[in-house]
Amino acid sequence: MLQIEQVHAGYGKVEVLHGVSLHVNASECVALVGANGAGKSTLLKCICGLIPITAGSITFEGQRINGLSGHAIVRRGITMCPEGRQVFPEMSVLENLEMGAHTRHDAEQASDIEQMLDLFPVLRQRIRQQAGTLSGGEQEMLAIARALMSRPRLCIFDEPSLGLAPKIVQEVEETLARIKAMGTTILLVEQSAAMALRLSDRAYVFEAGEIVLQGTGAELQNHPEVSKAYLGY
Ligand SMILES: Nc1ncnc2c1ncn2[C@@H]1O[C@H](COP(=O)(O)OP(=O)(O)OP(=O)(O)O)[C@@H](O)[C@H]1O
Ligand SMILES: [Mg+2]
Repeated sequence: MLQIEQVHAGYGKVEVLHGVSLHVNASECVALVGANGAGKSTLLKCICGLIPITAGSITFEGQRINGLSGHAIVRRGITMCPEGRQVFPEMSVLENLEMGAHTRHDAEQASDIEQMLDLFPVLRQRIRQQAGTLSGGEQEMLAIARALMSRPRLCIFDEPSLGLAPKIVQEVEETLARIKAMGTTILLVEQSAAMALRLSDRAYVFEAGEIVLQGTGAELQNHPEVSKAYLGY
């Protein structure tokens, strides 16, 4: 579904990604793990058209998407739930959900909003509340729901558990498992490598802008270097 070939990218003169290749099959959950600063978010931004790549190619469902605008990429069926949630703080919960559907031109937005409120009951209680006044966990749920409102075929998550209490982290994990069960393909960057490897069918380990290891979630959980560096045992 998503094919990334030898991608190079960076900021100004500084190259951060030094030839990254990976792929995501339809209905898979693929995780990227790696230390801070390895380039995980940079790669996600390249996929979503937020920063340009300097070499290589990104193909989605057989068509090149590198070079397209972020808006055009959302319309192709890719949505990102960004690092740090980034809900629109001055807007209400409902308005945030409506914003998530702004690239759509069909009549089913209202029923999708209902579906999101069923999936996240806490949002229904707070539908008119300003998003900036929600708790961190509630903002994460809103960010996930807003991303789903575009009906993505590939949903990309950047550190959804960051800064959340353990109980909420568990809720996020359960939510991602449900989204996967609904048939959405997932690319997940997650600081909690244990959670990422539990959820994912396959994973890639990133180091300094390159992929150094790959395997199934189970293989990597049992890999000595991975368990030592990222799982703490
Ligand atoms: N807007 C930017 N301008 C310049 N350099 C940047 C910018 N964003 C990121 N970088 C640099 O690119 C490198 C990779 O950053 P990136 O955010 O992709 O890492 P990451 O793997 O997502 O890390 P983390 O786990 O901390 O989120 C870092 O050295 C970072 O300082
Ligand atoms: Mg990051």
